[in-house]
Amino acid sequence: IRMILIGPPGAGKGTQSPKIKEKFCACHLATGDMLRSQVAAKTPLGLAAKKIMNEGGLVSDEIMVGMIKSELDNNPECKNGFILDGFPRTVPQAERLDSMLAERNEKLDHAIQLIIDDALLVARITGRLVHPASGRSYHRIFNPPKDDMKDDVTGEPLIQRADDNAETLKKRLATYHQQTAPVVDYYKKKSIWRGVDASQEPGQVWQQMLKIFEEKK
Ligand code: AP5
Ligand code: ZN
Repeated sequence: IRMILIGPPGAGKGTQSPKIKEKFCACHLATGDMLRSQVAAKTPLGLAAKKIMNEGGLVSDEIMVGMIKSELDNNPECKNGFILDGFPRTVPQAERLDSMLAERNEKLDHAIQLIIDDALLVARITGRLVHPASGRSYHRIFNPPKDDMKDDVTGEPLIQRADDNAETLKKRLATYHQQTAPVVDYYKKKSIWRGVDASQEPGQVWQQMLKIFEEKK
C-alpha cells in the first residue's frame, strides 16, 4: 500500500497508522516523530525544529521532503509500501511527493482525510500520553495505559509532548487550516481521496478505513 493520512492535530493519524502498518507490512513514516527524535538527540536540525514545533509552525518544505526521500530510498521496511503520517502538509510538499513517486514509477493508492471538528481536539491533545521511542500514543481518559504512565509493551515511562497544550494547539490548528487544508483540495481533485469521520471511536474509524481498502481491491 502507498498512502497518506491527512488530518488536524489529534485527529488520530498516529493511532490508526500502526493498524495499517500491521495489515499491509508497510513502513509508517511520521514526520512529527522523526523531528522529535532529532530534538531529543539535540542535532542542529533538532534544535531549529524544536522552536518551530513549540510555536505550532512548520519546518521548511526542503527539509521535510529530504527526510521523506531518504526514508523511501533507504528504509527496507518501505519496500512493501508506506503510510505517510503528517506529510505532505503543504501544497509544495504534495507536488514534490508526486514527482518523487513518478521518478520511481509509483503512485499513491489512497489519500485519506480524517475529518473532525476543532472543538473535539482540545480534549484529545491535552490528555495524550506518548511513548517517545516507539511513537505509541495513549490517552488519560479515552485510551489509558494498563499501568499508570507506563507503556504497555516496554513498561517505559510515558510523557506529554511539549506542544500538547491548549495554547500551542490553537496555533497548530491555525497552521493546519492555512497550509494543510489546501493539500486536502489538492487530493480531492484526484480519485484517490476519501474522507472518514474521525470523531467516532478508534475501532469505528478503523472499520471505515477497512471499507476504503476493500473498495480498492
Ligand atoms: P505531528 O507530530 O505530525 O503532529 P500533528 O499533526 O499536530 O498531529 P498529532 O500527532 O498531534 O495528532 P494525531 O493525528 O497523530 O493524533 P493521535 O492519533 O496521536 O507534527 C508535530 C510538528 O512537527 C508540527 O506541528 C510541525 O511543526 C512539525 N512537522 C511535522 N510534519 C511536518 C511537515 N510535513 N512539514 C513541516 N513541519 C512538520 O491522537 C491524539 C490523542 O487522541 C491520543 O491521545 C489518542 O489516544 C486519542 N485518540 C485518537 N483517536 C481517537 C478517537 N477516535 N477517539 C478518542 N480519542 C482518540
Ligand atoms: Zn501524530
